[in-house]
Amino acid sequence: MSAHAGTGADARGPRAGTHVPGGDAGADARGPARVVARAVVARGDGSVPELVEVLLDPLGPRDVLVEIGASAVCRTELMTIDRRRADPVAGAPDGRRRVLGHAAAGRVTAVGGEVTRVRAGDAVVVTGTRQCGECFFCRRGAPGACDRIFALMERRVGETADGEEIGSDGGIGAHVDRLVYDESNLVRVRGSLPDEELALLGCGGPSGAGAVFDVAGVGPGQSVGISGCGHLGLWMVQAAVLAGAETVVAIDPDPWRRSRALALGAHHALDAGDDVVDRVHALTGGRGVDVGMEAAGSTLAMRQSFDYTRYGGRVVPTGLESERAVVSLDNLQYSLGSRTIVGAQCGGGDVRSSVPRLERLVARGRLSARALITGRYGLADAARAYAALDDPHQLTGVLSPTAPAHPHPTQHEGVPR
Ligand SMILES: NC(=O)c1ccc[n+]([C@@H]2O[C@H](COP(=O)([O-])OP(=O)(O)OC[C@H]3O[C@@H](n4cnc5c(N)ncnc54)[C@H](O)[C@@H]3O)[C@@H](O)[C@H]2O)c1
Ligand SMILES: [Zn+2]
Ligand SMILES: [Zn+2]
Repeated sequence: MSAHAGTGADARGPRAGTHVPGGDAGADARGPARVVARAVVARGDGSVPELVEVLLDPLGPRDVLVEIGASAVCRTELMTIDRRRADPVAGAPDGRRRVLGHAAAGRVTAVGGEVTRVRAGDAVVVTGTRQCGECFFCRRGAPGACDRIFALMERRVGETADGEEIGSDGGIGAHVDRLVYDESNLVRVRGSLPDEELALLGCGGPSGAGAVFDVAGVGPGQSVGISGCGHLGLWMVQAAVLAGAETVVAIDPDPWRRSRALALGAHHALDAGDDVVDRVHALTGGRGVDVGMEAAGSTLAMRQSFDYTRYGGRVVPTGLESERAVVSLDNLQYSLGSRTIVGAQCGGGDVRSSVPRLERLVARGRLSARALITGRYGLADAARAYAALDDPHQLTGVLSPTAPAHPHPTQHEGVPR
């Protein structure tokens, strides 16, 4: 039994401040009324996501109910909206509707009886990965492969009023006003930032900045190449500069995105053309960079980042072109080039350490989450936020359950000049 067990009062009944449809609907002979969430759900067939009411399942022993203040929209959402983006030869999707999103910030309102990590009232970040702290991988310093990520991948969260089962994206779900999470998905934070900034620490912050600090181990004086200047890549640029890298080369085919990288501290910005490897070598004494990072979601960029990293350097791929894509590398360089290739899932997955550290760094102005927010939307406008993922002049959208239904994208608002 945990120290915090039961601190959320009765974890199985409705919470104060939560909405029960039709007043006491559900509070009949079948048992207590169920908590209702407003959730953006997708079918996986490419159709436009919809906002629906979901009657949440009662809390299990390790479950936590969180009132969401804001959530972030990530490129990976597109693969949930249309499964063919993830797997081009997949058959028809299973038809199950899933709550979109995997990064959010909010407050705990109820906890199951065995929850130890958080208590009611805590400010938390919902993370795009899980860290149970107990499994084979968590205990061996590889929480990015935590057993609970896979065990809870197909998690049911509740059902619609007419009984249709609702799952959640990767077993998480974030584009909601409230939802039930496994405690391994939550990191307690101080709550010293607005929720919309904390929400970015659920995925992009640790996946980008965490990959630089914890996986690449970038240090003072190093040279770093970063392929891709979207949401992830721009966290990487900021983190590499903060870590003291002497030369940060940002690479992207889009000129506006290259300009964002320069505004956030990159020393050079290059187009991603055929000659990019030669151009990076030219900037680094003909050797290549010490660390090559990829945040483009392109196998070409993965190959380029390997090729522009020096002999004996470190290569950190983070993107996903599709679940079927294959990366091919030059055999001579792969075997005899003595490089270390370390893939990074959510910056190595130690989110219990990386998320609070990022909160401190953002609060002190050492890293900027705000610079990456280019659109704000209500849940009813979520489809607009997903469409913006394919707009090169938008970086990150945030959804707020309390925002008005009419979108007012704040393009480029937070980007320093
Ligand atoms: N590993 C993780 O934990 C993790 C977490 C979140 C997202 N991701 C993945 O990371 C990738 C990037 O995510 P994002 O949100 O920043 O996407 P994004 O679309 O905002 O940015 C990708 C950028 O890469 C650029 N690009 C395309 N081809 C390139 C090339 N050859 N060289 C350099 N740049 C190129 C694009 O112009 C774009 O600006 C996606 O594949 C996403 O699914 C991984
Ligand atoms: Zn993500
Ligand atoms: Zn684990």
